[in-house]
This record gives sequence, C-alpha cells and structure tokens, in this order.
Amino acid sequence: MKFFALITLLFLALSVNDAVPVTSKPTVISLVKQANEKSNWLNVRKIHQVRALVKYQKLVKTAYASDKDVLNQLELAISGKSGGKTGEVDLTVEVSGNIDIGYFGPITIGGQTFNTIFDTGSSDLWVPSAGCNSKACKQHEPFDTKASKTFKLLNKDFKIQYGTGNVSGITAQDNLVVGGVESKGQIFGLTNEESDDFANVPFDGIMGMALNQLSAENATTPFSNMVSQGSVNNPFFGFHLQRSLDKGDTGSLTLGGVDNSKFDGSITFSKLVNNQGFWEIGLDDASVNGKPLNFNGRSAIIDTGTTLVVIPEEDAKKIHNLIPGATQINGTFVVPCNTNVNVAFTFAGVSYNIDPRDLAIQPTGINNTCASGISAGNIGGNTTWLVGDVFLKNVYSVYNIQDLTVGFAPSKIK
Ligand SMILES: *[C@@H]1O[C@H](CO)[C@@H](O)[C@H](O)[C@H]1NC(C)=O
Ligand SMILES: *[C@@H]1O[C@H](CO)[C@@H](O)[C@H](O)[C@H]1NC(C)=O
Ligand SMILES: *[C@@H]1O[C@H](CO)[C@@H](O)[C@H](O)[C@H]1NC(C)=O
Ligand SMILES: *[C@@H]1O[C@H](CO)[C@@H](O)[C@H](O)[C@H]1NC(C)=O
Ligand SMILES: *[C@@H]1O[C@H](CO)[C@@H](O)[C@H](O)[C@H]1NC(C)=O
Repeated sequence: MKFFALITLLFLALSVNDAVPVTSKPTVISLVKQANEKSNWLNVRKIHQVRALVKYQKLVKTAYASDKDVLNQLELAISGKSGGKTGEVDLTVEVSGNIDIGYFGPITIGGQTFNTIFDTGSSDLWVPSAGCNSKACKQHEPFDTKASKTFKLLNKDFKIQYGTGNVSGITAQDNLVVGGVESKGQIFGLTNEESDDFANVPFDGIMGMALNQLSAENATTPFSNMVSQGSVNNPFFGFHLQRSLDKGDTGSLTLGGVDNSKFDGSITFSKLVNNQGFWEIGLDDASVNGKPLNFNGRSAIIDTGTTLVVIPEEDAKKIHNLIPGATQINGTFVVPCNTNVNVAFTFAGVSYNIDPRDLAIQPTGINNTCASGISAGNIGGNTTWLVGDVFLKNVYSVYNIQDLTVGFAPSKIK
C-alpha cells in the first residue's frame, strides 16, 4: 500500500453509486484518485521505493537475511532516514507529468462515513479515534463511539507500519457497509496515533483487501466477512483503476462481482503461489516490443495500494535495455517521455500491455526523459515482483478469496 502521503493533491469528482444492499447484485463503488502533480522526480521515485521496502519488510528480512546491504537499506527506510519522508519532498519543481498515487472511496462504520484507500496489499481496516491528537487525526473526522449503538470496544492494542508512516491504537467492532454491502461485527482499528505521513491526505483510513493471515489486528477482513455472512453472491471483487490522463473515466471497485463495462473479453485467472496472505501469482514472462525477456520462475504480488512496479535490479535492467532511449540517471531508470514502447507482462499465458503513458511517470527535466514506472527494488528476493498501479491501470483485476486466484482482462476505458 502506501504511497499516498505526497503533498499536492488533485481532487477528482467523487460519485458514489448508492447500491441497494441486496445479495443478488454485485455492488459497485466509484473510486477516487489521488493524483500528484508537483514534486521533485528523484524524491518521488525514492518515496515510492522506500515505502515498498518498508511495507514488505517481513518479506525483505526473510529473503535478504544474510545480505547486509539490503538490511541496512531497510533499517534506514524504517527509521525514516533514507530520504523517503514526506517532509523532504521538494515541491518547487513544477512538472506536467502524471502520477496517480492512491485509490480510495467511502465506507460507513456504525453509520459514520469515512474515505479509505482500498489496498489489496494489506489486510487491516482502521480510522481515527476521537482521542487521537496526531496532526493527521485532527485533520479528519474521528469515529464517534457514542453515536453508534452497535459499537463494541475490544481494547486490544494494534500497530501497523506502512511505508514511511505508521499507526497504532486499539481494536473495536461495529457494522461496516461498503457500497451497500454489510459486514456485521467487523473488527477494525481506532487509531490513537498516526504519523504525519497521514496528514494532508484526502482519505481517513485504509481498508485492507489482502487475505486474513496478514492482519495485524488479527481480524477477519471485511470482504471475508461479507462472503461468510452471505452479503455478496460471489467470493470475489474487481477493480478498475482509472488514469488521470483519461479524463472522465471513472474507477470502480465491485464487491461480489465484476463490472462488465470496464473490460474487454474474458478474465484469465492465476492461482496464488503460496499462502502468505498476499495476492501473489506466477508471472510467465515480460516482453518489450514483442521481444520476450525469458524470465523464469518469477512471482508477482498484485497490490492496488502500490503506485509503481518494483522489481529486482537485474530484471529492471533487462527490461530497460530493450526500451529505446532508456537509461539510468543517478541509479534511477528513466525512459524518453514520448516513448511509445510496448512493455507487456504475461500471466497465465495471456499478455497485457502497459500503456506507455504509465511507464513515463514524471519528467526529470534532463534530456526529455521521464522516471520509469518500473523501478528497481528488493522486496521478496530476486524472483519476486511487486506489481502496482502502473500495471494495474491497464487491466481489470479480480481477486477471489475462495479459489485463491487473481484474474485479469484488458481494461476498457470509457
Ligand atoms: C512512527 O513513525 C515515526 C516517523 O514517521 C517514528 O518517529 C516513530 O518512531 C514510529 N513509531 C513507531 C512506534 O514505530
Ligand atoms: C494478535 O495475536 C497475537 C498473537 O496471538 C497477539 O500477540 C496480539 O496481541 C494480537 N493483536 C491483536 C490486536 O489482537
Ligand atoms: C546526481 O547525483 C549528483 C551527486 O549527488 C548530484 O550532484 C546531481 O545533481 C544528481 N543528478 C540529478 C539529475 O539529480
Ligand atoms: C544528456 O544528453 C547528452 C547528449 O547526448 C549527454 O552527453 C548527457 O550525458 C545526457 N545527460 C544525462 C544526465 O544522461
Ligand atoms: C537468485 O539468487 C540466487 C542466489 O544468489 C541465484 O542462485 C539465482 O540464480 C538468482 N536467480 C535469478 C533469477 O537471478
């Protein structure tokens, strides 16, 4: 998740399809996009990378247990000393590039409405409590425990570390409704403390949509509860992530179904490759302008809450070597801003193209290059890829908690 704490936000139209809470129909929630228009490109790239590293620190620690360099990098990132902090972002460079940072929408807990990021890379739900004095909490309406008759305090401490940010508080229970679908007695977190990374953002909290075993609150996730309580007909949900450059196109999250108007053809599914709790599937290969890279044995964590694609350095090099005009500036991969290269990822035998506009994420101001949406980073060892919105904006993605599969179909922009 967690690449959202950047400063300049562009608010796009929020439209909520007020779905009726019936089980026969899937429910569609329109997504709002948080787009960042200004920022020093190197800092932006670094923030995204650092946050991926911290978010996946458990994987990093396991995969790189004997690699001091990587562990040091991680320690710096966790301590906030590696330059990934929001406060260090240089806002003086004006750019016209496009970065879509996070996707969020409204939910209600105990009848009170909050905007949360929908994050397939984590499994906890939290919103601010009235007792929280952090700057981020003060900027958002807290949960009012007295205003809900169904509220129950569980009083267990929880703590979650996201990217450069962290939150802590206590757990509670109440009825949750998302797009008209209810999860009764949902366990969630009420924060007592939020780091400043959650200040100046247009969302109040996060709703995790990965699997139960990743929950720091030891909770059953909202979607799992909706399925077991029979609030949805199908054990899957689907995402269409809109692109700010496609003005007028709206993103959607569909619970218990898919939004057929948002994709072409059929959805092809892949089985999860392990039971760690991430939406992690096998990746067949990647190609550049039709030329296969012959990657073998790679897996991909599918994460709507991560902005970039973050992959092992060696793999990133192989891809950029085939992109005309791509190079590295101070260790960061860059591509020509006007590139029309076709980079594609293949899952379950089907290739999905990445729109070149998603690859050239932000002008560097140097030789007409843009920072690349495919970034080098150590997450789960040299075969694990972290696949975020740079790729996911190009597909309709479907997540099935019963079959334990992730499916894609080419996205349809309207
Ligand atoms: C939370 O993050 C802040 C910096 O963002 C750090 O100073 C603090 O130590 C962290 N707290 C915990 C409990 O990790
Ligand atoms: C979750 O479970 C672990 C292990 O049993 C426990 O240490 C921790 O306190 C629990 N946390 C919450 C928020 O319930
Ligand atoms: C690259 O790093 C050097 C040394 O830190 C710095 O002087 C230079 O400005 C950097 N280049 C860019 C494009 O940021
Ligand atoms: C920009 O292009 C010029 C001319 O090709 C080259 O000499 C220079 O090294 C390039 N700058 C960077 C930072 O790559
Ligand atoms: C990953 O690293 C291991 C150990 O260093 C090495 O044996 C293996 O060939 C590497 N795999 C790839 C795909 O680079």
